[in-house]
This record gives sequence, structure tokens and C-alpha cells, in this order.
Amino acid sequence: MLIAQISDLHLLADGTLLGGQVDTQAALDACIAHIAAFEPAPDVVLATGDLTQDGLPEDYALLRAAFNRLPMPVYVIPGNHDDRANLRAGFADGGYLPKTGAFLHYALDAYPLRLIGLDTLIENEVGGRLCPVRLRWLEDRLSEHREKPTVIFMHHPPFATGIAFMDRPRFQGAEELEGLIRRFSQVRLITCGHVHRAIQTQWAGTLAAVAPSIVFQMALALSEDAPSAFVLEPPAVSLHLWQQDRGPIIVTSPIGDFGPQHRFHPEPAEPV
Ligand SMILES: [Fe+2]
Repeated sequence: MLIAQISDLHLLADGTLLGGQVDTQAALDACIAHIAAFEPAPDVVLATGDLTQDGLPEDYALLRAAFNRLPMPVYVIPGNHDDRANLRAGFADGGYLPKTGAFLHYALDAYPLRLIGLDTLIENEVGGRLCPVRLRWLEDRLSEHREKPTVIFMHHPPFATGIAFMDRPRFQGAEELEGLIRRFSQVRLITCGHVHRAIQTQWAGTLAAVAPSIVFQMALALSEDAPSAFVLEPPAVSLHLWQQDRGPIIVTSPIGDFGPQHRFHPEPAEPV
């Protein structure tokens, strides 16, 4: 199974340049073309939040139209820039988001890997949270299929990423989630967004990752007092490869002129 994860799209349907510099619609178009051309084709795409910059209905409509150009299903979860009600309405016909209830979380059982999407949004706040209600929901889902390898995807990382200005404020419920995940060994990967940079670590006894943004990255600032800053490093897609219980293997695929037509080969080595 091959999963393409895209994150932090920050789409602006009105054409405004993000930060006065970044064309989010062009970035989305490039990302869609990148995934559509990828061989082999990913089985699914996971879009891990900050789907839009302002959470407006027209942003979700434009996003939905772009996703419809892909042949594989795209599954979305909210980030701190999203609006739950508008997101739910915009993707209602996908059939996987809960029609009612406070949170946009769900489990997908149709694939070799079980996929569980979590909703870590705190409305009008930057940081993320899993409250007791959401943790209980996750515990119930994990109890259902203890034998099936499972990937959890969510917007906010519950673990430290080393980018101090993104590790604040602390994820609320991180300790409770860590204790929960440690009880369920079928969780093979927790993959997130929010930090706009490819990061992997170990957490709660499993592999934990952050996908880069498909639009812009956060500055690689490892000191505690580094100020928040954006940087135009290449946008990228995270690929998660799973082969007969080998994996997940995570590969970062930058979006740009890096396709087959741009490859070249070294000269044959001189015989010795
Ligand atoms: Fe973001």
C-alpha cells in the first residue's frame, strides 16, 4: 500500500498571496499534478489539516474540485486554520466524515493498513488537543481491531519536533495519548502536519512523523528562542510505503521539476 500525505495547504480561493508572496492555488495545482503523475499511483491521499487559510466555504469548494482531479480517494482532517462546519459541509458527500457530533474523526477499514483520522482542533486557537471524549473515541476504535496494522493521522504533533517555536503551545492531552498508544501495538505510525517540515522520531513506542507543507516550510530553527519564520524551501509530499508487514517506509518527494524527464545518468565507470 502506498499513501501520499499532503499537509498545510493553506488554500486561499480569492487568489490572495499568502504572506504577500505565496500563490497557494498554484501550489495546490502543482501538488495535484505531482501526485497524478506518480508511479505507482498512491492508493490514497491523506490531507492532514490547514487545508485552507481562512476556512471559508469557497476555499473548501475549490479544494474539493482540485481533489476530484485525482483518481484515488483523498481523506481530510482539520487543522487550526480550518473551520469544522465549513469543512464538514464541503466534504459531506465523501461519506467518511461523521454527519453529526462535535469532532471530525473517523476510521477507514477498507485498506491493508487501517487508517484513523483524528481531530485535534481547538477552535480559535493555534495549538492542538485531544480531550477525554476524543481519547475515548480513539480507545474504542483501537480496541476494535487489535490485530490490524494501523496508521493514525492528525494535524498537530503530540510529540516534540525540535522546532521550538512550533512546539509551543504544548499539545493538550499528549501524556494521555502516549499512554493509550503504548497499549496498542498495532499502531505502526502516527503522522501529522502543522510544523511545515519533514520530521521523524520515536514516540509512544512507535514511529512518529510530520509531513512537509505543499506550500511553504517553517524555518529550520533549533534554538529555544528562535523566532517564528517561514522559508520557501521546496514544497513536498510525504509517501508512506507498506509492503507485507515491512514498513512503513517514509520518503519525502519534493514537488518541482524532478520527474522522469528530468533524470540523468552518470557516465559508465571506466574499467579498472
Ligand atoms: Fe499550517
